[in-house]
Amino acid sequence: MVEADLGDPRKNELVQLCEKLVQDRRLIILSNRGPVEHQLAANGQMHGRRGTGGVVTALNTLTNNIDFTWIASAMGEGDRAITEASEGANIKSPIPGQRLSLRYVVTPRRVYHKFYNVFCNPLLWFLQHYMWSSPYTPNVDGAVHDAWENGYVPVNKAFADSVIAEAEGSETAPYVVIHDYHLYLVPMYVRQAVPNATICHFVHIPWPAPAYWLLLPAYIRNSICRALCQSDIVGFQCLRDARAFLQTCEEFLPDAVVDHQEKTIELDGRKVNVRVYPLSIDPSELRRIADSPRSLDYEKRLELLCLENTIVRVDRLEPSKNVVRGFRAYDLLLERHPELHEKVTFLAFLAPSRTRVRQYQRYAEEVEQHVQNVNNTYGTENWTPIHTFYENNYTQAIAGLRLYDVLLVNPVIDGMNLVAKEGPVVNTKEGMIVLSESVGAHDQLQGGVLSVSPTDIEGTMQAMHSAIAMSTDERSRRFSDLTDVVEKEDVTYWLKLQIEDMLNLN
Ligand code: G6P
Repeated sequence: MVEADLGDPRKNELVQLCEKLVQDRRLIILSNRGPVEHQLAANGQMHGRRGTGGVVTALNTLTNNIDFTWIASAMGEGDRAITEASEGANIKSPIPGQRLSLRYVVTPRRVYHKFYNVFCNPLLWFLQHYMWSSPYTPNVDGAVHDAWENGYVPVNKAFADSVIAEAEGSETAPYVVIHDYHLYLVPMYVRQAVPNATICHFVHIPWPAPAYWLLLPAYIRNSICRALCQSDIVGFQCLRDARAFLQTCEEFLPDAVVDHQEKTIELDGRKVNVRVYPLSIDPSELRRIADSPRSLDYEKRLELLCLENTIVRVDRLEPSKNVVRGFRAYDLLLERHPELHEKVTFLAFLAPSRTRVRQYQRYAEEVEQHVQNVNNTYGTENWTPIHTFYENNYTQAIAGLRLYDVLLVNPVIDGMNLVAKEGPVVNTKEGMIVLSESVGAHDQLQGGVLSVSPTDIEGTMQAMHSAIAMSTDERSRRFSDLTDVVEKEDVTYWLKLQIEDMLNLN
């Protein structure tokens, strides 16, 4: 029975499905970054703040309506302190309305550093986003081997140990839902200790072709594939990634039987289902944020910067987002179309990210250099061609999305990209999206966007120009195509596909 009416029949239906799921089995969700970050104030008081990141937002409907446990890494001193104080007991979420209970995985700082700053981000993230310049990088040296053995493996084991502790004493085996590239080995460790658990792993980022995985030592790539195959379901954002995973397992696991038609892998007497679940957004929640007084206040201020044509981008300051090529394309637009001078502006909302990773520091410097070049070359007393906002301010970015005529979303490659889905929900100008063909969202949105190849600076410039010059009728048609898809295939749809598949496994 639905306890609360969520005012949306699809959400009510989802909650009912979830209740069926957790009726007599526990649900345990795992992600590196959790739904709450605790902070210890100077007066010794502990405060809980909603965690950032797409997974947390995506699971909002569940966190507020279902009882389950969420296991995440302790991110800072607050999380560590509250874990110590709770003496191993689960922590009740301090966020009003959240029904979940929390369990933090505390690993020594050195181990976590190797896990996050050496292995997960510079190596796995770069591999899975095809971000290497292979004649020169990566260099899998002793530090990387060490980060696998003394960072990635122990953190994954610690997560699995938390699941095992959580499952102890329960008569029925739990559902274990694991998120993302930080935790590829968890299915294997959990399966060894809790053989009847139902394990689902959702990979949020792209899965490259087997040849690219060859750039990693065999024992690492094979362990990752073998461990993931201990899941019952492995989910991906789009078909291309699911297919690449099937091919990768076929290539690296000689004892695996891969059925490309059915999208299954048989290994060690078990069957793994490979599925596609395109992650999405919650349009009503997004509209609530966009209509909030804080957002409207930002909007008023940002409006003062807008010109006849406003180009917007919203991204983490991250090399895979292709920010530099985006500014190069804009530079070219201003060079080729002097008639646009003082009539176009670019608002770039760039949230600092992974600032301790060297490659990110260098990339941030490069971005700023390009901004200065463009502003110095074309700017006038009355006109700043690019305005940058280097801050992690989601509400301000949403206010910015209300105002675009053109939204530039040109990552080199991206698992999904939610900005491309957020834009049409809040935008008030029937703005156009220039979208990389290589992001997962392109599969769903291609009917309404202007598609570009991410490295094609000339093509990106032309697409921005076409978007600016587009007739009102054409804009309206494309815009309503986009909003239709996003409203229909929203986050409720994403969750429902997964829960139904989990129920069907029984
Ligand atoms: C992006 C990706 C997620 C990933 C997250 C990690 O949002 O889309 O798949 O889990 O980054 O970010 P973090 O800030 O925790 O390194």
